[in-house]
Amino acid sequence: MAAKKPRKEELAGYRTLLCVTGGIACYKAADLASKLTQAGAAVDVAMTEAACRFVTPLTFQSLTRRAVFSSLWQSAENYRSHHTSLTESADLMVVAPATADILAKIACGIADDLVSTAALAASGACDILVAPSMNTRMWLAAATKENVATLKKRKVHFVGPAEGRLACGTTGPGRMVEAAEILAAATKLLLKRSPKKSGD
Ligand SMILES: Cc1cc2nc3c(=O)[nH]c(=O)nc-3n(C[C@H](O)[C@H](O)[C@H](O)COP(=O)(O)O)c2cc1C
Repeated sequence: MAAKKPRKEELAGYRTLLCVTGGIACYKAADLASKLTQAGAAVDVAMTEAACRFVTPLTFQSLTRRAVFSSLWQSAENYRSHHTSLTESADLMVVAPATADILAKIACGIADDLVSTAALAASGACDILVAPSMNTRMWLAAATKENVATLKKRKVHFVGPAEGRLACGTTGPGRMVEAAEILAAATKLLLKRSPKKSGD
């Protein structure tokens, strides 16, 4: 079913933290960043080291017209630590693509890079929406199933994965849903609440 197209500027005043982790679907995250921006949201982007091997921070910086964060140790102009301030100011954290690795880290509370630390710091600050993307065997692995169940129990929101052709040439569940579907899921969650309007 085609995702409902958000009205123009429907997300004006909202701020999202788009976290990009290292899977082949990173190229679709660029489209998502563009769509969120076109819908009027301010989009902060945080990337893992692995994600930066698939797409460059410059891609997201150009699409969102904002700084992109890729390290816990990046210096902050306003002296606020990104690992906590990014979720304090965000109305929603979106992890797309979400690797098996980041799902495991969030489920276990591991905080060893910017994205996993921000996810832990999202607790009590903003909701998390994840769009998993991985090989079918990884998605169906017992560890991933348990991690997904833990995250759902903690009210982490999921969109996808879909079934279809995967980059590894196989067909099955694990394919990240299209950017329009993630945008629709994010829009639905965002419009349930008023924007924090936490400034730039
Ligand atoms: C070409 C390539 C494609 C990959 N695609 C995926 C993927 O789609 N999903 C996934 O969970 N891991 C994938 N991986 C493995 C992750 O990149 C690896 O687990 C990495 O440690 C994830 O780090 P991150 O979660 O910090 O981004 C892929 C690795 C390579 C080399």
